Parts: sequence; structure tokens; C-alpha cells
Amino acid sequence: MNDSLLIIDERNDYLSLIEVIIESEFQVNIIKSKSYDEANKYLYGRKDIKAILFNLNATCTTLENTNHIPLIAYGKDLAFLKDKETPYVENPFDEENLYSALGPLLTNKEDHLQIELDGTDTPLKKVNLITLGLFSEFSYDLYLKLSGDKFIQVGKEGNDDLKEIIEHYKSKKITHLYLKESDYYKYLDHAKSIIKANQSLSRENSKKFTTIEIFDFAFQISRDQLQAIGLTKFQEEFVHSAMEELIVDLKENKTIYQRIKEFFKEPNYIVDHSLLTIYLCSMILKKMGWSNEQTIKQVIYAGFFHDIFITEELARIRNLEELNLDREKRLVLNHISSAAEILEGIKGINNDAHKMIIDHHELPDGTGYPHGLTANQLPPLSCVFILAHYIVDYLYDENFETKNLTTFIQQMQSVWDQGNFTRPYKCARSLLLD
Ligand SMILES: [Fe+2]
Ligand SMILES: [Fe+2]
Repeated sequence: MNDSLLIIDERNDYLSLIEVIIESEFQVNIIKSKSYDEANKYLYGRKDIKAILFNLNATCTTLENTNHIPLIAYGKDLAFLKDKETPYVENPFDEENLYSALGPLLTNKEDHLQIELDGTDTPLKKVNLITLGLFSEFSYDLYLKLSGDKFIQVGKEGNDDLKEIIEHYKSKKITHLYLKESDYYKYLDHAKSIIKANQSLSRENSKKFTTIEIFDFAFQISRDQLQAIGLTKFQEEFVHSAMEELIVDLKENKTIYQRIKEFFKEPNYIVDHSLLTIYLCSMILKKMGWSNEQTIKQVIYAGFFHDIFITEELARIRNLEELNLDREKRLVLNHISSAAEILEGIKGINNDAHKMIIDHHELPDGTGYPHGLTANQLPPLSCVFILAHYIVDYLYDENFETKNLTTFIQQMQSVWDQGNFTRPYKCARSLLLD
């Protein structure tokens, strides 16, 4: 029987990443516990637990029944370390320090395995299937260990069906796969940056609004809205840095810059939905493996300008037939062409942004306007924009409550899962529902 190690931390992501780090180095059964009470239950009557690794924090209470099991503490709040003799690592994600602290306590080291690739010996690292899916969306080259020291490759780098690979091997009762050592460290770095981003997100979660400083002034957007579309801190920062660069170009045209500044003066439906559509597009594009700065910039241009010439009330018209007056119909049609025109003189804009603006009220089944185009007549980027815009509008109507979102997205399938909308729709569905 393998040795066991008990880890206590109230955060799931910490527990998982520590598990990734330890499992690649030691043959050990890891027991994760989110509270000291739960840990005490595990400790009762077990002989296999060889060490306890725990996060120092204010809620720390005493562990009972440890029966002299060695303790290792981690965290920054040293004041909570009751017994100053307890070994301690400041950062549990610093592999080397963690390995040296655990080394004397855990006897079975993981074998250092390698395969021959292109004539050179390549070291491999073991990763648990569950944690692999937690910290990576895209696959690395993945290897399955057969008997002896033989491996077969079961996944290819850049394959976005990592979830499928994981599910497949889980169903075959496989618990671990192997990565090339260099990929393992890439994976680890990625996991660490996700945790860092989660940390700042949870610090900000206590605030209701978040401030976006994209202009000479700051704009406030509600955290609830951002959470409803599942925006990650990474993606938020990625979009903001593209916005910053784009603003530099916009500033060259004083009239347009003034106009966009005015536009962002008051938070209202038009401004909120414009920003949220940009964020959701960026998440969908990322999922599609199509997230680059040039594309995001075109999405930002389209987001900023597509409804700049319309009133709040008319901006939400989905079907021109809803309008009785010709004057209103004309206003609605004009907001599209005027927005496309104003952008003509802007540096950095290209045909994609132009198309997204012209197409933003089209729908996959041809019931949209101005041209009643159908799913195969619309370019993929327009499809992403139309789809994100549609979902954001739905969330608006629901006051950003997501309890009916699953049903809504599933009901969309009959109309949206077709033509150039298929991939954007599938990616949006997995983004918002999985
Ligand atoms: Fe709009
Ligand atoms: Fe519009």
C-alpha cells in the first residue's frame, strides 16, 4: 500500500495544484481536505498517513489524533504557526522547496521515465487525468503507459478535445497519463497563473462593480454581468490590453474619439451590452482557438461602434416588424449603415469589423435584417458577434440571472447549430454550460 499524504486547504484550486506537483514526484496517495474538521475525521484510526501538509490561516484549529504524524505548514501568515518548530514552506507551488520538505517523509519516489523521440531520450512526467482537465483546455502531447516501460501517444498538442480524451481514458479506468517534462512545466506555469488570476478575482468578488480604465476616464461595469458570461480574469486583461492599443489609434481622429468618450459617459443598456458582447466574443473565440490580438481588435471596433447611432429603446429591436412607424424603421436601418460609415476613416480597422457591424442584426435562419442573410451567407466572425450579442441580450432580459440559461442555450440549437454558426454555437454552449 502506498503512503498517504493529507493536505488541508480551504481552496480547491490550491489542493489540486499541490496534488499535481506532488504526484509527479512521489508515489503517494493524496487525501485532500477542505477543513480541519474533515481532516480530523480522516486522521481517526488511519495508519497510512505519513505526513500532513496544511495551509496556515486564521481559521486554523487544532488537529486531533495526529499521533505524531509529521506536519508541514505553508502560507505567509507565520503568526498562525502555533509550534514554531514545524517545518514550513512559504510557497507550496515552489516545487523544489516542497519536494525537499516532503522528501524525508515520503519514501516512494516516482520513477523517472523517458521515451525516445526523434532519436533523443525525452523525460516524462505523470499527471492525474482529473487535474489535467482542471488547468488546461488544450491538449499537450499525451502518452499512456503500457506494460513495462512502453508508451503510446494518445493525444496531440493543440488538440482542443482534451475533455474527450480525458473522459475516454477515465471510462477505461485509467487514472494517469504522461507529459513530456518540458510540457509538464508549461502546464504547471499555466496552472499557477490561473490560480494567481483566481486569487485577484476572489479579492475583487467582494466588490459589486469593477472599473475598466480604457479611456481618460474609468467606466464601471457590474461584476454580476461579467460573471454571468463567465469572463475569466485572463480574458478580461487580454481584451483590456487590446482596447488600450486601439484607443491610441482612435485618438488620432478627434471627432470619433470624442464621440466614443460621450458614448461611455453613462452606464446603460447600450454601453453595457456593447462591452459584454466584446468580452463574450473573446471567450468564444478563445474556445474556438481563434483568439489573436488582430481579431479581438476588430471585435472591439464592432462592439464599440455598432450601436453608437441608436437610442436605447430602438437598439433592442430584434425584428423590424415590431415597429409600426416607417420613421422608426428607417432609424433602425440607418444605425447600421451610419456606424459602418463612420469607421471608414479609422486606422487599424478592417473588413471584418465592418462586416460585423453590417451583420449584427442578421440571424441564422434569415429572419434578421437588413438583408435577411442565412447561416451560410454570414462570415464566421460575424456569426461569433451575432451569437454573443444575442446571448448577452437574453441575459439582459433575465437580469443576468443564469438559472434558465441551460434551457435557453439548448433551445437555441435548432436554429443556431447550422452553417457558419455551428462552431461558434458549440463553443459558446460548452463555455457557458460545461
Ligand atoms: Fe447591439
Ligand atoms: Fe444594433
